[in-house]
Amino acid sequence: MRKKVTIVGSGNVGATAAHWIASKELADVVLIDIIEGVPQGKGLDLLEAMPIEKRDSYVSGTNDYKDTADSDIVVITAGIPRKPGMSRDDLLNTNYGIMKAVVGEVVKHSPDSILIIVSNPLDAMAQAAYKLCGFPRERVIGMAGVLDSARFRAFIALELKVSVENVTAFVLGGHGDTMVPLPRYSTVAGIPITELIEKTKLDALVQRTRDGGAEIVKYLKTGSAYYAPSAAVALSNSLSEVVPTATIRPPLARAEFKRAAVEAETKPHSACIVWPAVSSALTGRKVPAPTCSVSRCSSTPRALKAVSSVGVKCRPAVGAATAPSFAANMVW
Ligand SMILES: NC(=O)c1ccc[n+]([C@@H]2O[C@H](COP(=O)([O-])OP(=O)(O)OC[C@H]3O[C@@H](n4cnc5c(N)ncnc54)[C@H](O)[C@@H]3O)[C@@H](O)[C@H]2O)c1
Repeated sequence: MRKKVTIVGSGNVGATAAHWIASKELADVVLIDIIEGVPQGKGLDLLEAMPIEKRDSYVSGTNDYKDTADSDIVVITAGIPRKPGMSRDDLLNTNYGIMKAVVGEVVKHSPDSILIIVSNPLDAMAQAAYKLCGFPRERVIGMAGVLDSARFRAFIALELKVSVENVTAFVLGGHGDTMVPLPRYSTVAGIPITELIEKTKLDALVQRTRDGGAEIVKYLKTGSAYYAPSAAVALSNSLSEVVPTATIRPPLARAEFKRAAVEAETKPHSACIVWPAVSSALTGRKVPAPTCSVSRCSSTPRALKAVSSVGVKCRPAVGAATAPSFAANMVW
């Protein structure tokens, strides 16, 4: 039986994610939104595209969570996007209220699902969703690392005039201005980009990656990016792909937390490697527990503080974070 993916929020990111998922025939898709008619209309439109695409995905739209029942994956894109001049953190209060309402319904109707959080501010929303749903941490994932890494890859490929296929890049840290692109671990056909691009140019690419979302908001004026973010939700069905993503780390004992804090301070390029949750879930494979070290990224404590301010109690030790360090460096 084909897997079922519910996408909450049928706006730009949600509807385009539905498009990618259906056109890759990864799953059947249910779009849900608070606006009446929009998910139904977009769902039907996508369904009618399937014969042209030669795909049998069933796409539908609804305003009733009953139709989302027993989803394997629930992607949460509900919320407001930022406008020029706004930071992702400016969306916190509005989107936290939406997240609270949405997660309650999702838990009720799809208690065994995996959540993929997209709404911003991403790290805070992933943490909030984790706290609200009570699911194990392996089933709450934030989408950001794949997107930020894809942006970095696109800029590297443009700079060196090579195929994106040959470019591997890792961007970790929080999904905000303090994200951590890792040039040393980014390669073109195995050659580190630090050997291919001179430092000032490389610094400019790193900065452009950090500002990737804002660059698009500035052009669009009325909303934020959605083609690349939604593509990052609908990863291809490859079982062995390794992707960076925001995950919830397990609670740490006091001594461990202290050690993690020292590690994070002394190894700024810290890290998180996560297996592809979407593809694994869609193909019925067990999703391996994501692991990561504590985030050095300043946006995460800030985000946590912000979430606490709207009523979710959380400790930095369980912060949602794409923390820097590769598997080999991990002490956990
Ligand atoms: N994590 C990332 O990398 C990333 C990238 C792009 C956008 N985003 C975020 O994703 C979110 C959506 O962006 P967008 O461009 O699709 O916005 P959008 O305005 O086009 O769509 C949001 C949709 O959510 C719906 N919605 C609002 N409250 C709801 C509720 N309670 N239940 C169901 N649906 C509800 C709205 O009606 C709207 O259709 C924003 O918060 C944006 O900042 C995150």
